[in-house]
Amino acid sequence: MSRERIISGEASSPEEESFILSLRPKLLNEYIGQRKLKDKLKVSLEAAKRRNEACEHILFYGPPGLGKTTLAHIIANEMKSRLVATSGPSLSRTGDLMGILTNLGEKDILFIDEIHRLSPTIEEFIYPAMEDFKVDFVVDKGAFAKVINIPLKRFTLIGATTRAGLLSPPLRDRFGLYYHIDFYPADELKEIVIRSAKLLEVAISDDSANEISLRSRGTPRVANRLLRRVRDFATVKGDGHIDLDIAQKALSAEGIDTIGLDNLDRKFLKVIIDYYQGGPVGIEALGATLNEEIDTLVDMVEPYLLKIGFLQRTRRGRMVSNDACKHLGVQLDQENQPNLFEE
Ligand code: ADE
Repeated sequence: MSRERIISGEASSPEEESFILSLRPKLLNEYIGQRKLKDKLKVSLEAAKRRNEACEHILFYGPPGLGKTTLAHIIANEMKSRLVATSGPSLSRTGDLMGILTNLGEKDILFIDEIHRLSPTIEEFIYPAMEDFKVDFVVDKGAFAKVINIPLKRFTLIGATTRAGLLSPPLRDRFGLYYHIDFYPADELKEIVIRSAKLLEVAISDDSANEISLRSRGTPRVANRLLRRVRDFATVKGDGHIDLDIAQKALSAEGIDTIGLDNLDRKFLKVIIDYYQGGPVGIEALGATLNEEIDTLVDMVEPYLLKIGFLQRTRRGRMVSNDACKHLGVQLDQENQPNLFEE
């Protein structure tokens, strides 16, 4: 089912991508939140700079929309390096990767988004590039086959993934630095909304910035997208200023409820309640009932529901919690309550 989802962490169009880009912080000290990550990253970057070396390979993992790509660009800016961006699914041929790698300069950054989706052949090809800064290229076939060693410049690979668990252990082990990016607390999202409103030159009241942050499901990209919709609403239905009344009306019109859930989140929870008595139910069955891709559910719906305790993943499948039922105004049989002691 393809439909734009306002609270999705993914960018939905090139036009939206450029809007998000215009709000993206360029340097670490403009970046709001993730303090521990920033502190550790600052040390690693400073150390690499002082030694005049490329930084170690870095892996960012966490749900979509939390800033993995933004951080990769910030690292390039901080290190004054060139960044070449690609993604796991688009690297299908070793020849393409070969071209990218051999064109990298000293301390350049190669950013691979969705790195868990690299094919096994490409993965094998990337190991010596990461470890020894060389690639092994096979020329000719059969008895005439020869392996040619091509040296590379010392570059930094930055990988981003929503699912660290899907990375093969040999690939994971070749990263020197791992950073988990978690959902942002509302006060940090509020700061992000205020910063973005300033960049967009739109007046916003403190309580409406707060309202947007509470409905952004811990995700800066969602916060910026909601701000955009609220700004449109203020232009058309008001005098251009964003106040609480305008913000609430605009967000409700988008189907975003008071805690930031949208139609798909509510449908997901309701299906577990109505069709599977609250669970446990397997993700495949849910995907089929909802007519949604499993990856969409796992990457874009479940993480936040798990985070706020509306959903539990047990060995036997997904289960909704009492809090979720309360929020939706429905009741479950007691015997179907999730067992918190299960894995
Ligand atoms: N825009 C998106 N994410 C941001 C962040 N973490 N800090 C500042 N602005 C942002």
